[in-house]
Amino acid sequence: MSSSAPASLVPQHVAIIMDGNGRWAKQRSLPRVAGHKVGMERARDITEAAGQRGVKSLTLFAFSSENWQRPFEEVSYLMDLFVTGLEREAKSLHKNGVRLRVIGDRSRFAEKLQNRMAEAEALTAGNTALTLNIAANYGGRWDIINASNLALAGKRAAGDSSALQEADVTPHLALADQPPLDLLIRTGGEIRISNFLLWQAAYAELFFSSVLWPDFSAAELDAAIADYGQRQRRFGKTGEQVAETN
Ligand code: FPP
Repeated sequence: MSSSAPASLVPQHVAIIMDGNGRWAKQRSLPRVAGHKVGMERARDITEAAGQRGVKSLTLFAFSSENWQRPFEEVSYLMDLFVTGLEREAKSLHKNGVRLRVIGDRSRFAEKLQNRMAEAEALTAGNTALTLNIAANYGGRWDIINASNLALAGKRAAGDSSALQEADVTPHLALADQPPLDLLIRTGGEIRISNFLLWQAAYAELFFSSVLWPDFSAAELDAAIADYGQRQRRFGKTGEQVAETN
């Protein structure tokens, strides 16, 4: 592990809103998609760095439920980038012990892209070094509604008409099989969650960086992890209660 933070202070699960690709490109008088291309390279670097630092799950927001509203050319470019990215990176992820998962409603993607996603997931399914979750056509509200519907269907099938409880819903949420979200990073200077992991972020520590995603480096990740290591996580208790149990 190359980070200076002790293992106990390394977040087990980190999620990133990779914002700022368009502005990065605009600053260089390049088309927006040039920012996404470099953004893809950064996603690869940060995945590697996160694994080296002992993070067990990394969740990247690649395409939101709302991103379909972008210009057609940009959406098409992103779709092509996902297909070629999966084709190019699946073997290397596998070689490095990374399990790839795609979270979100993938039914809206082209069949070719859905197939690449399924192939990469199948290839890497047995890996344990790091789980890389790519959120694609994902929205936090979608996740909660989807999980609630699945929970409700299960209860109805069992003839149970009682109201839904938190414990009924949580097993059906995306990422239910992974460590709780510890640290949510957003790059690009905006201070909002933008319908990302709404449920999962309930007790996550938030870190906002003004660095545009194509410029985000392993050093920036280390800064976020170091900041995380300084936080007192209280989960609703008082600071004194938490200090007593530590
Ligand atoms: C936000 O920047 C970025 C996106 C909506 C796309 C993110 C996609 C990548 C980084 C490439 C693919 C990565 C993976 C892991 C498959 P923006 O376009 O909103 O930037 P702006 O706020 O400056 O306009």
